[in-house]
Amino acid sequence: MAEKSEFRRYLVNVDSISAHQLFTDCLVVGSGIAGLRAALEAAKCRGVIIVCKGKAEDSNTFKAQGGIASVLDDADTFESHITDTLSTGCGICDENVVDFVVRQGPELVEQLLNWGTEFDLKENHIATTFEGGHSHPRVAHAHGDETGKVIAETLIKRVRGNPNIKILENFFTIDLLTDENKGPHFPEIRENGSPNKCLGIIGHEPNRGPQIIWAANTILATGGAGQLYRETTNPSTATGDGVAMAYRAGAVLRDLEFVQFHPTTLYIAGATRALITETLRGEGALLLDNKGRRFMKDYHESAELAPRDVVSRAILAQMLKTGSTHVYLDVRHIEKTYFAQRFPWINELLESFDIDITKDLIPVRPSAHYMIGGVKTDISAKTSIEGLYACGEIASTGLHGANRLGSNSLLEGLVFGKIAGQEVSKKKKATAAHLKHPLIKYQIPHSDRTRLDAEDVRNSLRAVMWRNVGITRAEQPLTEVQEIIRFWQRYVMDKIFDSPAGWECQNMLTVSLLMAQSAQKRRESRGVHFRRDYPNTDDENFKKHIELAR
Ligand code: FUM
Repeated sequence: MAEKSEFRRYLVNVDSISAHQLFTDCLVVGSGIAGLRAALEAAKCRGVIIVCKGKAEDSNTFKAQGGIASVLDDADTFESHITDTLSTGCGICDENVVDFVVRQGPELVEQLLNWGTEFDLKENHIATTFEGGHSHPRVAHAHGDETGKVIAETLIKRVRGNPNIKILENFFTIDLLTDENKGPHFPEIRENGSPNKCLGIIGHEPNRGPQIIWAANTILATGGAGQLYRETTNPSTATGDGVAMAYRAGAVLRDLEFVQFHPTTLYIAGATRALITETLRGEGALLLDNKGRRFMKDYHESAELAPRDVVSRAILAQMLKTGSTHVYLDVRHIEKTYFAQRFPWINELLESFDIDITKDLIPVRPSAHYMIGGVKTDISAKTSIEGLYACGEIASTGLHGANRLGSNSLLEGLVFGKIAGQEVSKKKKATAAHLKHPLIKYQIPHSDRTRLDAEDVRNSLRAVMWRNVGITRAEQPLTEVQEIIRFWQRYVMDKIFDSPAGWECQNMLTVSLLMAQSAQKRRESRGVHFRRDYPNTDDENFKKHIELAR
């Protein structure tokens, strides 16, 4: 029977004989904290290729402001960090994973310091601050609000100086190549997961066109999918490509309904939505509505430092109540010189919009920030596909449960990046036999269906995802959004594109549909997933994960 275009195994024709080919022991897809850390670990005894679709610097990591959470001072404890992570995760964190990640933190953060990351210091120790949900100041930061950039630059420099690692920039990974007859790692989900083994990828480089990279081990570290939403803090590269290609390859996905919305992104009509870090509230910034009233105490006893989902929904409710498009951050009481030194990036940004923080309020509203679900992995970063690992935002490790504690994600990327790289280096070196591959020939039939403008579909998709699969959800809008996406899919998924914009649009449609399906299945409210029609948590039926596989 002909394959329906929505369920097409590959987005492009594959011919493993005629395509340009490379071979490697370890392939890392993505250049955020997880991918870079994985590459450095694997390169201790393996040849590694990193591919990234833009420049190595174009990652969510690079944009991270607040910091990296870890137990770094004597008054803090692992138990406290574990308790905060579990309670924010609303009952569905994997306790072993939480314990493991939290305990790895201090050593790996210290290692970054030793590698040259210029963390901000206080009395010769790494300085820490608060974010929502943390009961102790444990968020380490660098150059004030440029933590991600400083960490990424440290790792990129180290990677570029490592003779075992090669970086291919502007390389768009289109699909994972698989041998469909090898068993999955999670035998209990054999019914769902298609039994297969990852052999590498097919991708595209502007100068060379289609290319195959055969890899004995592939590590997916492609980051998140904030671009599925009209309002997002994420870079333009965050289009969910990794999740879509893992799904096409048969990997098990988990918890896609859990999308974290950051409460405070700068809201100035026509300007991109820049993140205004939560650590600003950690340092005393207040939230005011358009009448100048501090409102967070009406919603939660921790006020501005309540968990992110609570703050985002409170802002939304207050915007509705007051008929406003945004609320405000008030930092007028924070000393200007301190502000400029602690938040240099934000200070410059605000000055560029003529916002004088000693007199003016900062207009903000929530936007999509972090994909909590993703490709299911175990504690060794293994996915359900043999030879395929995942780490960083794309992975669903079980650390975050239904809600992510601020700054736990850089920590997770660091820990599981190292683990993924370590797993690869523990394996036997690839031999000629490993790299002998089956022929892969895949031909997409021609379609005469009307061509839709991919850019137009992308913009409309982002708008409908914001409306129907946003901060609050309900049955009817979730049904409608699936009908709309399926309609677009009929005209977009049957085409063969030859550039990233088209493949991204196909991936965005795929991941959006899966998110909407997962959100519909979870008929309760938990963590970041709030259903207007099921506002309570239903432990009896939903204290569990929602998994999907093709
Ligand atoms: O507000 C922030 O700086 C964001 C931190 C995070 O997403 O972990």
